[in-house]
Amino acid sequence: MSARRISDRVFWVGALDWDRRLFDSLVPLPDGTTYNAYVIRGSQATALIDTVDPTMTHVLQENLTSLDVGKLDYIICNHAEQDHSGSLPDIMARFPSAKVVCTPRCAELLSLLLHVPSDRLVTVQDGETLSLGDLTLEFIHAPWVHWPETMLTYLREESTLFPCDLFGSHLAASELSALESPQLGEAIKRYYAEIMMPFARNIAKHLERLGNYEIARICPSHGPIYDRPEYVLALYREWVLAEPKNLATIAYVTMHGSTRMLTDHLVAALIARGVGVERFDLVGVDIGRLAMSLVDAATVLIGTPTVLAGPHPSAVYAAHLVNALRPKAKFVGVYGSYGWGTRADEQLAAQLTNLRPQVLDSVLVKGMPRSEDYAALDRLADTIASKHAEAGLKSRTPESGS
Ligand code: FEO
Repeated sequence: MSARRISDRVFWVGALDWDRRLFDSLVPLPDGTTYNAYVIRGSQATALIDTVDPTMTHVLQENLTSLDVGKLDYIICNHAEQDHSGSLPDIMARFPSAKVVCTPRCAELLSLLLHVPSDRLVTVQDGETLSLGDLTLEFIHAPWVHWPETMLTYLREESTLFPCDLFGSHLAASELSALESPQLGEAIKRYYAEIMMPFARNIAKHLERLGNYEIARICPSHGPIYDRPEYVLALYREWVLAEPKNLATIAYVTMHGSTRMLTDHLVAALIARGVGVERFDLVGVDIGRLAMSLVDAATVLIGTPTVLAGPHPSAVYAAHLVNALRPKAKFVGVYGSYGWGTRADEQLAAQLTNLRPQVLDSVLVKGMPRSEDYAALDRLADTIASKHAEAGLKSRTPESGS
């Protein structure tokens, strides 16, 4: 690999990680990922924007060599997470006069996470600028657009935004610039669902703020560059700002088949009433696909057998995930089976403290389902269909999904 030209003064020096399959020991990466870093050459000074995951430090080093970067004045650290900051110690050692530029909160985190010495750190305030001679970097603080220290960097003369994780995608691809395709759309949505959705409110404010900037190019820290920023901005506006869709996400687990029988019936009942359904067996589920479904769903239903008087651990995990990801869902419900007693529904509902949804009447069945249990599921499906209709929720379109 070697550095790649974006413009006469901006170069990509990051790393492709084709083989990585898991992030944070949690998030599946079916398409690998990239750690993007960029060199900006002004007439007076040179800056590196972000570094790469420590496993790929050698690639960044080779790319800087290939670009013949003999002196680095600034290393802009938009975000302290190690997939972007992990190479800092090595790059700082190679360029001993380079200053690390970041928010005050990021300086604290770099000291904590990487033991970066304070005399190498320069903190910048929101809106502050840094001249590279004929080029100007403007720093936009974006706290809790993911982490508390997050910063976006805007290169004024080229109308280029470097937003770090925001607008990113876990996608290793040979093309430097985005090929707008269903594969890329899904990668961006997966990334949004897993990483950004919990911060949708803050992202909404920053989408509005970014409306004040002319943006000709977006260079994120993961995935391809957007030469047509409106492509990703429109996707984010839809996911962040629009109402949820006429869609129920069903996440279930079964032990001896009763909860699967209930799931089969409920799925059919919802479809018959015009409600879209996405169904996930929690055994071996790709949590990225489940998270993507939550971006759009107005209703979340969790199906569980009862284990030791409570929900199955897989259902507990699903409820924890839903709560952590803070989707837009307005309604939640629990259904399932038990042998002699259960508190599964109240325990699952109690986990959803971040959502404040309307909790629908649960359907908990003793033993194998009978006709009256299926009738109860029909009533649940009636309720969901009428609530979606009352809220005026639309079905998904190809544009709103991916
Ligand atoms: Fe790509 Fe929050 O790190």
